[in-house]
Amino acid sequence: MKTTAAITAVHAHLPEFVLSNAVLETMVDTNDAWITERTGIKERRILKGKDQGVSVMAAEAVKGLCAKRGISPLEIDLLICCTVTPDMQFPATANIICDKVGARNAWGFDINAACSGFLYGLTTGAQFIETGKCRKVVVVGADKMSSIIDYTDRATCIIFGDGGGAVLLEPNGEGLGVVDSILRSDGSGCQYLHQKAGGSMRPASIQTVEAREHFVYQEGKAVFKFAVTNMAGVSAEIMEKNGLRAEDVAWLVPHQANKRIIDATAHRMGLDESKVMLNIHKYGNTTSGTIPICLWEWENRLKKGDNLILSAFGGGFTWGAVLVKWAYGS
Ligand code: UT7
Repeated sequence: MKTTAAITAVHAHLPEFVLSNAVLETMVDTNDAWITERTGIKERRILKGKDQGVSVMAAEAVKGLCAKRGISPLEIDLLICCTVTPDMQFPATANIICDKVGARNAWGFDINAACSGFLYGLTTGAQFIETGKCRKVVVVGADKMSSIIDYTDRATCIIFGDGGGAVLLEPNGEGLGVVDSILRSDGSGCQYLHQKAGGSMRPASIQTVEAREHFVYQEGKAVFKFAVTNMAGVSAEIMEKNGLRAEDVAWLVPHQANKRIIDATAHRMGLDESKVMLNIHKYGNTTSGTIPICLWEWENRLKKGDNLILSAFGGGFTWGAVLVKWAYGS
């Protein structure tokens, strides 16, 4: 049997500070009822403190991961960090995380695929295990969205939060782990969801700061339409491709962008809501962080051999689904 990349441990980190809908009501013209009905979000976490970048959360997740699996960070061969909010434009946050956790034998790089980042990273990391090039690969999904959110814009500030998680990938000979993935992108969707300034096209200047161009720009309605269609579509497609019926799927692990998008995806897959991991009410949308955070929260309920479908849609546009056969637990 060919070698597969099994997830052998998962850990996450969420900052302590809670930003509730009640507090947002005092900051912008919004209300708890609207936010709850339109998104399903009740509160989100925010990373506070001077010079606290996304690597702070990522490093905590990776340290916990190594402790859980009983390995030294020195054993990590490769670390992939999926994020849209790197500590700095360069170097890659993966390098900074490796330094913070003492993964001195690892190489690493960042992947920016917005909310689909973790699926892109997981699929990429799995290749290095499958080919035998690496024996221990860490895939991190983490974002400090509060660093690029305009807290005077009610259309975006109610959605996003900070947090991240990490998984360890190791070779498996029983067919467990990453079984299949379908990944897509369409750059024409950039117009609906992006950060206008700070890149090479429009470097930071007094004008870009004054025009508030360093924040997330989102045309919510347009993104919602594409998200519902494509996240549901690709999730149903991966089931069909692998001959899975609804009863064969143990869990849907959806990107947590909007409860209505998640409900539509589960409905299209024919899944009961009891099989859907949902924690958007507690953490909002942590972009690259949502899926590993879900895996961490549900870890104790997962059984060896469970079929999990991870699916996401986000900026790019990017979207995709990954079929994972869970490798541990009973
Ligand atoms: O994860 C990355 C991908 N991103 C997504 O998947 C996000 C997809 N989009 C969405 O989740 C939703 O479009 C939003 C949650 C962003 C917005 O929900 P919506 O149901 O699409 O609302 P809308 O933008 O169509 O706005 C409806 C109304 C508007 O008022 P009028 O024009 O009908 O009078 C908005 O001004 O709701 C108003 N509104 C608000 N009201 C209270 C917009 N934001 C708020 C708010 N509180 N925070």
